Amino acid sequence: MDILRTERLLLRTFTEADLPRYAALNADPLVAEWLGGPLSRADSDEIALWANSRWEAHRFGLLAVERLADGEFLGMCGLHRLKDRPDDVEIGWRLAHRHWGQGYATEAARAWLRYGFEELDLPRIISTTDEPNVRSLAVMRRLGFTFLEHDRIEDNGQWFDAVVYALTREDWAREDRARRD
Ligand SMILES: CC(C)(COP(=O)(O)OP(=O)(O)OC[C@H]1O[C@@H](n2cnc3c(N)ncnc32)[C@H](O)[C@@H]1OP(=O)(O)O)[C@@H](O)C(=O)NCCC(=O)NCCS
Repeated sequence: MDILRTERLLLRTFTEADLPRYAALNADPLVAEWLGGPLSRADSDEIALWANSRWEAHRFGLLAVERLADGEFLGMCGLHRLKDRPDDVEIGWRLAHRHWGQGYATEAARAWLRYGFEELDLPRIISTTDEPNVRSLAVMRRLGFTFLEHDRIEDNGQWFDAVVYALTREDWAREDRARRD
């Protein structure tokens, strides 16, 4: 199902055809460096199917990113709830390595932030990562997130020391207006 469009991207649920590409991305040690290590095909399929089911149930999820120009599957971006922080919605991103450095994660995230603030009416959205994950932190800062706190978070059975960044609806609206002017 198609959900959101940006200038260059289609944000949608995962299709059967995405699964081998998503598995290749999730098996790449460079992509998985701060995600608990490479995933098997079965685990990768499971998270894609879980993401689609979250979309069905809650109208948000960690979903597929496709390039409009040629239909290429680039990776994942979207919104979800962390088990350990049930009151917050987190934004996340993960792209195949060859698609880094082109602004796709930031572009996809901007669309999901608009959706989160305008359609879901969220008061704030957080983003968490390991402190050394400088590329992810750079995306957060580009989007206007600021440091909130340190936390210890469980993801897929693995605990990690996370930095938590946050963006409020008011700060997002201010940044969004400034960017459009
Ligand atoms: C985190 C991740 C998604 C960031 O991807 P990214 O491509 O670096 O991020 P962006 O989409 O914001 O792209 C920004 C870069 O594109 C460049 N760029 C090129 N064309 C651009 C355009 N048209 N618009 C905007 N930026 C553009 C920017 O200058 C910037 O370059 P830089 O990396 O040299 O600073 C990626 O590194 C990744 O998938 N990592 C592995 C998974 C992961 O760790 N996820 C986070 C878990 S918490």
